[in-house]
Amino acid sequence: MQNEDFTIRPSGGGVGAFVENVDLSLGVTDQARDRLRQTLGEHGVLFFRDQTLTPDEHVTLAERFGTINVNRFFGAVESHPMIAEVRKEPDQQTNIGGGWHTDHSYDEEPAMGSILLARETPPTGGDTLFANMYAAYENLSDGLKQTLEGLKAVHSSRHVFGANSRYKQEGADLSDRFGNEAAATQDSVHPAVISHPISGKKALYVNPGFTLRFDGWTDAESAPLLQMLYAHAAKPEHTYRFQWAPGSIAFWDNRATWHYALNDYHGSRRLMHRITVEGGKLAA
Ligand code: SIN
Repeated sequence: MQNEDFTIRPSGGGVGAFVENVDLSLGVTDQARDRLRQTLGEHGVLFFRDQTLTPDEHVTLAERFGTINVNRFFGAVESHPMIAEVRKEPDQQTNIGGGWHTDHSYDEEPAMGSILLARETPPTGGDTLFANMYAAYENLSDGLKQTLEGLKAVHSSRHVFGANSRYKQEGADLSDRFGNEAAATQDSVHPAVISHPISGKKALYVNPGFTLRFDGWTDAESAPLLQMLYAHAAKPEHTYRFQWAPGSIAFWDNRATWHYALNDYHGSRRLMHRITVEGGKLAA
């Protein structure tokens, strides 16, 4: 049977697993899809090497996991509007995703995850860090776990993609890669600790990119606890650093992980194709 005999090898770091002996261009059966989804829920990120997906095959793969979320802010591949481009040219300084975040936490129903496929990679650098939000939660004290389980947090897209975006304030050269600032109107409130929709495990659900404050708290009151949680969650033992090559894929679950695209390859091109799959409402 096609693609059902793949093997799962934990990354050896704090998050993620490699899926080996698989050719995703052949498609995935229901059984393979279900096993991949369970593994994603358990490990937070699936890594694949040497895949030869065409853009159409990339779309077909993503559709096996849910409805595609067409990105409001990123440029798209011209022939395939469902595929967002994560691109940095040799003359550009700012990259997309260059800080810890989890995508779409500003949406009422955050996206499940993304399938990011490397098309062109720099000779060195351009790795992506991932962090494990199950471990981040699990490694807190019982007292803080209990406090967080009673809290919700407010998330927004406005300060990242809106008219007063922090990228704009920093003079970032992203204008040809980000657009549609008028669409950056999303605000949402989610539990600070969620029960993961696939694994049922508890995960910390605040992130430096999009979380503004705890619900009912001021920004100033929230900042010290959020900063403590961010430093804790990003501890090296909770993370894994993935090195890309053309044909590499990372398929991450936004509800179980954060990610951070390193910006250490100025003067080289890096081009990734990203398809995001819809998720649903999150519960404590
Ligand atoms: C992103 O945040 O989606 C970009 C990740 C990457 O380019 O490695």
